[in-house]
Amino acid sequence: MIETRTVEIVAVPEGSRPARVTVHTRGQGPLAVLVHGFPLDHRMWLDVMHGPLAQNRTLCAVDLRGHGDSPWCGDGVHTMERFADDVAAVIKTLGDGQADLAGLSMGGYVALALMDRHPELVRTLVLSNTRATADNDEQKQGREAAIETVATQGRSAVCDAMLPKLLAPGADALVRAQLRTMIEGTPVESIVADQRGLMQRADRREGLANIKVPTMIVAGEHDALTPVADAEVMRDGILGARLEVVKGTAHMTPMEAPKAWSDAVADVWL
Ligand code: MLT
Repeated sequence: MIETRTVEIVAVPEGSRPARVTVHTRGQGPLAVLVHGFPLDHRMWLDVMHGPLAQNRTLCAVDLRGHGDSPWCGDGVHTMERFADDVAAVIKTLGDGQADLAGLSMGGYVALALMDRHPELVRTLVLSNTRATADNDEQKQGREAAIETVATQGRSAVCDAMLPKLLAPGADALVRAQLRTMIEGTPVESIVADQRGLMQRADRREGLANIKVPTMIVAGEHDALTPVADAEVMRDGILGARLEVVKGTAHMTPMEAPKAWSDAVADVWL
């Protein structure tokens, strides 16, 4: 059974507003926190949460502020640092001092920000379908255009533009429908605040050398949003990191191939 609870985030530095973050847990053993991508929520982890990893870990899928069951807090920009501080508060509240941390795409940017700000909270790290680089000018322009699209045409237009990039051709129709449900359920203001935060996120390549915990990088063979080359940069930058490229998947590897994703992660969650 999945248990849902709320963690109160008291005001943290940098003028962050107090927030409530909803988390969904299943399993037993040490805490492992799962951080979703843009513009999704905890439901992207449901197949993983119902798989074998829950036998050895209390899997905790976070709804980042303004996503899923966590309310919008009125922030015009969702910085990766603010999200990271929220996840740190979850680990401090639910963990025994540390947690295994896994993030996909935007969740990976959040995980890298957390490694920079709260490294003592992390026991092992999984970086899935993500990258350490900041946006280049073209990517920033793409985000400006996406903000315009959601403001003028709504969330279904965002969804239509994103879905072909998230999934490999021939992906399960159910996974496609699940993604559409999540994207169309995310508040427009969260989508805009995420895009602004993503646009201004830091380049984390230099900090990779400071990561000292066992790390697994997972990439999708056909991921055009965060290609395997991005994963190789992170593998080469983090001492001892391993890279697993999952065949047949694109950007949503844990949804497209939950078993292969879980097998890779089990290697660092022994
Ligand atoms: C995600 O899946 O979180 C996004 O593709 C991240 C991004 O737009 O950089």
